[in-house]
Amino acid sequence: MDLYKSLVGHFLFTLVKTEPEWLHKQTIGSLNWLSKASYYPSTNWLNNLLQQYLCLNDPRLEQTILGMKFPNPLGLAAGFDKDGIGANIWHNFGFGFAELGTVTYHPQPGNPPPRLFRLPLDQAALNRMGFNNGGAVAMAARLKGGKEKLNYPIPIPIGINLGKSKITPLELAAQDYLESFRLLKDLGDYFVVNVSSPNTPGLRSLQDAAMLSQILDVLQGENTGKKPIFVKIAPDLEWEAISDIMAIAQGYNLAGLIATNTTISREGLQTQIIEKTGKSPQEEAGGISGRPVRDRSTEVIRFIHQQSQGQIPIIGVGGIFTAEDAWEKITAGACLIQTYTGWIYEGPMMVSRILTGLLTKLEENGLNSIREAVGTGDR
Ligand code: FNR
Repeated sequence: MDLYKSLVGHFLFTLVKTEPEWLHKQTIGSLNWLSKASYYPSTNWLNNLLQQYLCLNDPRLEQTILGMKFPNPLGLAAGFDKDGIGANIWHNFGFGFAELGTVTYHPQPGNPPPRLFRLPLDQAALNRMGFNNGGAVAMAARLKGGKEKLNYPIPIPIGINLGKSKITPLELAAQDYLESFRLLKDLGDYFVVNVSSPNTPGLRSLQDAAMLSQILDVLQGENTGKKPIFVKIAPDLEWEAISDIMAIAQGYNLAGLIATNTTISREGLQTQIIEKTGKSPQEEAGGISGRPVRDRSTEVIRFIHQQSQGQIPIIGVGGIFTAEDAWEKITAGACLIQTYTGWIYEGPMMVSRILTGLLTKLEENGLNSIREAVGTGDR
């Protein structure tokens, strides 16, 4: 029985209606503690226990992509661990990779609370966090310190998602991304240019071809170590804008695209009123994640896969709760997938549940590895 789903989640979300940001802070506090414990062999039993319950290892789920070895295709999406607190230990939760950030060059508090809401009727979240984070200098120091103290290499790829600082004007965005990249480039396995959050004024306009080219130009100029760089896109873009970004991705030798971030659309939501504010989701600023973004995200993945004839690696994210959701994204063309909102609702057992389901899907379809499934349902 999954205790989290049946008891803990029900208690926290439905009965007590815990404040979601408070709960997130408590979780990050526990992660911090666990991460520090991982420096001491005497507390290995704790992380071993997590591994025993939450991890699933199977060679059919492994892939090597752009020189990175992924033990399984399901990663933690950006936004949960903005400061890289759990970089050392995300593998103990069963994830095949983890994306830290969004981190900005300047530390910043984000938007005023309340800024994170659960929409349980829709299995969704609405957030307007606004890149609250301690800044690139602090993240670099933390990751460096962690690497020195840890007596084993982190066994999963670690991505770092970069955003523009709010105080930096849009015209100087490229320089802002560059400063963060300079500080962090040796500390992540891959990097993400986030130009798709709806919560930093004007950020999404950086998806425009000319603006995006400027950013990628300076980053690739600095990228002497040839780290894979992805661009994360919004689900609300028109096909033409996505095609433009695909051309840029190929022109700048990008590692691939991450599809997608949260949506600004409120279409199809069941939630009428957000209890905490007494307003409708339509009246509240922010991005919607979870179920409502699932199908659009898959559609975007399928479009990129089809248009590029499978030539652009895609990390698929948006509304993954089940193995079925994961399979849909993989067969639409995503070689890797990520989750945030589903993990919150479903709890930590979700990862192994999805991986087990993916293995069943492989067997049902007569396939030997997850790699073989990528894009097979591309209709
Ligand atoms: C996010 N997401 C996000 N993405 C990003 O690139 N940088 C960020 O800082 C954040 N922050 C963030 C905060 C919160 C509270 C949520 C719910 C989401 C977006 C996230 O990575 C993902 O793209 C979307 O949420 C869609 O996936 P899920 O949540 O439906 O699995």
